[in-house]
Amino acid sequence: MKRSQFIRQSLLAYPAFLSLKGISQIPHQTTSENIEKNEDYWKMLRMQFPHPSSLIYFNNGTMGISPYQVIDAVYNKSVVINSKGQYGGGDHEAIEALANFTGADKDEIAFTHNVTEGNNIIAQGLPLKKGDEVILTSHEHVGGALPWLNRAKHDGIVIKVINLGNTAAETLENIEKLITKKTKAIAVPHIPCTIGQVLPVKQISKLASSKGIFSFFDGAHGAGMLNLDLHDLGCDFYSSCCHKWMLGPKGTGFLYVKKEKLEVLKPIMVGAYSDSGWDMLSNPPSMKSYSNSAHRFCYGTQSAELYEGIQAAIKFHETIGKQNIEKRIKYLTNYFRESLKKISNSNIEIVTPEEEESRAGVTAFRLKNLTMQKFQETATKENIIIRVVPENNVNVIRISTHIYNQIHEIDKLTDLISKNL
Ligand SMILES: Cc1ncc(COP(=O)(O)O)c(C=O)c1O
Repeated sequence: MKRSQFIRQSLLAYPAFLSLKGISQIPHQTTSENIEKNEDYWKMLRMQFPHPSSLIYFNNGTMGISPYQVIDAVYNKSVVINSKGQYGGGDHEAIEALANFTGADKDEIAFTHNVTEGNNIIAQGLPLKKGDEVILTSHEHVGGALPWLNRAKHDGIVIKVINLGNTAAETLENIEKLITKKTKAIAVPHIPCTIGQVLPVKQISKLASSKGIFSFFDGAHGAGMLNLDLHDLGCDFYSSCCHKWMLGPKGTGFLYVKKEKLEVLKPIMVGAYSDSGWDMLSNPPSMKSYSNSAHRFCYGTQSAELYEGIQAAIKFHETIGKQNIEKRIKYLTNYFRESLKKISNSNIEIVTPEEEESRAGVTAFRLKNLTMQKFQETATKENIIIRVVPENNVNVIRISTHIYNQIHEIDKLTDLISKNL
C-alpha cells in the first residue's frame, strides 16, 4: 500500500482524528471504493460546516453552505488586503485553479458575479439578428430566461421553447424537432432549477455543432455537483457559479468561452482587464484590441478575497475528490428517492425522471393531498429547509442533497412526508 493510501485509509477509519486542518492534509483522492457509503467519513466532513446540526438544509440548489475553509480564506485575505492596502485585481491563480477544476484552459474562463451575468454576456454578445431562433426550455430560471427575452425585446430574435423529455433521448429528440434553418443557438440549462433533470449536454453540443448552431448551457447546478469536464462536454459556452454546489463565496461565478468561439462574442461590458492597450491621446482615440482571452469579459476591480474563497472551495473539493463528491451526492439523492418509493402512497408523485443518467443531486416531487407551500411551512417548523418551485407552473417540492447532508436527515424528511400524507 502506498504511504498516501495508508494515511487516507487510516483517516477514514478514525474520522475523529480529523480536525479542520486535518482534512486539508488528506492526499488527493481519485477513487475510493464505496466511499459514498462510508457514513463515518461524511459525518466527519459535516463538522467542517458552520450550520448547527439542528438545521437540516436541503436547499443547496439555491445556495451552498461554505465550509470553514472557504469562510476563513475570505476573511484572512480580507484582513491582508485591508491591512496592507492591497488592490484586488484579476487573480490569475484563481482563474487557473477554476480552469483545472472545470476541465478548461485558463484563457477560456472569465470570472463573473453569478450565473445570470454569464447568461447575459452570451445572450447579448452572440451575433444574432431579427428572426434568428434560439432554443430554450420550459424549465428556465428567471436568470436563464430574462437575458434571452431581453435580447428578443431589443433585437427581435425568436425564442423557441422545448419541453423536457422523460429520458435523455426524448429531450434530445425534442430539441432536434425544433431546429430550423433559422436556429442559431441552443441555450438550455445543464440541470434545470425546477426538477434537477440532467440534460444530455454532450449529445446536445454534438448536435448543435453538426448543424453550425451555438451551444450554450446555463450550468448553475453543474460545477460542484458533477465532476465537470468542459472540454469533454464539447459546448461553446457554459455559465456557472461558485456559490451553489461548489460551496464557494456568495456572489461568485464564471463563464467558459471555448477558445475557437472567443472572437464570435461581442463584449458588451468592458473596462480594466478587457483590453490589450488603449490610447486617449492618439487621433482618433482607440482601443488596440480586446485581451486575447475570455478575461476580456471581466472588467474593473475584482474581489481578491472572494477569489481566495473560490480557491479554497476548489481545494476542498479536490481534497475530497470531485468524483467522490459526485458519488456521494448521487448516493444521497438515490437514497431519498428510494425512501419516497418505499412510502408507497399514491399521493406522492416523483417528477424528476427515473432514468439514471437524467438525475444527480436533486429530487422533485408533488404531494397530491397537500400544497407545496403548506408542506414547506411544515418542514420549516421542523428546521428542515427546502425549496418549492412555482416557476413556469412546475409546482414541485425540490430537495437538493450535498455532502453535508446525512442519512438520518433524509430519514427525518421522509418521516415528515409520511406523516403528512
Ligand atoms: C438554472 C439556474 N440558472 C440561473 C440561476 C441564477 O443564478 P445566479 O443567482 O447565480 O445568477 C439559477 C439559480 O438558482 C439557476 O438555478
